[in-house]
Amino acid sequence: MSASLFTNVSITTPISGERPAAGSEQGRVVSWERGALLACDGIIQAVGDEDEVKATAEAFDDVTEEDCDGCCMIPGFVDPHTHICFAARREKEFSMRLAGKTYLEILAAGGGILSSVKAVEGATEEELFEETLSNVLSALSTGTTTMEIKSGYGLTTELELKMLRVIGRIAEETPLDIVPTFMGAHAVPPAYKSDPDKYIDLMISEMLPAVKAQGIAKFCDVFCEEGVFTVPQSRRLLQAARDLGMGLRIHADEVFDTDGAGLAAELGTISAEHLLAANEKNLAAMGRAGVIADLLPATAYSLKKPYAPARKMIDLGVPVALATDCNPGSCFCESMPFVVGLAVMNMNMTVEEALVGATLNPAWSLGMQDKIGSLEKGKQADFLLLDGETPAILAYHAGTSPVVEVYKRGVYVS
Ligand code: NIG
Ligand code: FE
Repeated sequence: MSASLFTNVSITTPISGERPAAGSEQGRVVSWERGALLACDGIIQAVGDEDEVKATAEAFDDVTEEDCDGCCMIPGFVDPHTHICFAARREKEFSMRLAGKTYLEILAAGGGILSSVKAVEGATEEELFEETLSNVLSALSTGTTTMEIKSGYGLTTELELKMLRVIGRIAEETPLDIVPTFMGAHAVPPAYKSDPDKYIDLMISEMLPAVKAQGIAKFCDVFCEEGVFTVPQSRRLLQAARDLGMGLRIHADEVFDTDGAGLAAELGTISAEHLLAANEKNLAAMGRAGVIADLLPATAYSLKKPYAPARKMIDLGVPVALATDCNPGSCFCESMPFVVGLAVMNMNMTVEEALVGATLNPAWSLGMQDKIGSLEKGKQADFLLLDGETPAILAYHAGTSPVVEVYKRGVYVS
């Protein structure tokens, strides 16, 4: 059997446990200063001290050795929250926000998410694919090897399915593992403005069953927010999705505290996302329920909001994951190195906590913890080589990507 042996590399990786890493285990990693990794058929056969891994490699007939030049190796990033499937940028809106308009004011006036809906409607499937592809490949080049992508710029059955088809094509035509999420509940369509409950009815009676029938989404997500969907509306939709066997995620307390985090704990959703304004009582309930907090510091940066209280969450035993939220409105950022840098510098996470937050915990939040998220025997050989001595380079070398090479299932991809 032929195998690839990566040597002359310092390795840092989270190590798997029974559940997502939380509290004092949020930063649990192991390191080998002179390490090596052996991969065969895309799967890690051995990882650890270079001499020991070399000894294991002797059992394989045909071993190709790759000298990693003293780089630092970490697992590929897992980005568990993106809206990267969009047809047009919204640069003018960004300037409006800089001039003082708020994100929710722009949405209420028919812009924001609703302008992205018009763009998806006006684009051919090929155009939507090309625009999405270029941003996904940019994310790959900065180390994202697994990515969740939400629909939600369609808001009709036809357009939501169009988005999910494009997301499926991204999965087929790029090296990344892609996890599709149905997010028809991303905004209230103008025709339902006076009665959003009717739109929830439509999603339950028509959209969710169609998505389920085509098997093109693993999760259902909802924007639970003031002026968007209320807690009772979000609960009703998520329960219907659960009845169909879909996993649940929720945009909770991004701008205002509407008890979205409490709903996440009540339903036991796999994750609750954003949480900039979530209160301590609900965060503690999330900790007890084992809900993963997917935090999106680049959105706080782009919206000029206070960062999510990551330290408090870690103290409360809430597992923390990090994501880009890449979208054309609140956060046009596909770079996980930037997100890790913000988590370390502005949310006071340690480098190790942020590394677990960008790899193993998001793998749990996508239900893929057995395959990805850490460099351990039996998992996919998804890894990055960084131009630095330790993962601290991700925060230390600001404003650029220290990711020099990206490997997916043992193969060089960027
Ligand atoms: O996570 N909050 C809702 N959705 C995105 C923004 C999407 C957009 O503005 O296009 C978010 O911030
Ligand atoms: Fe989002």
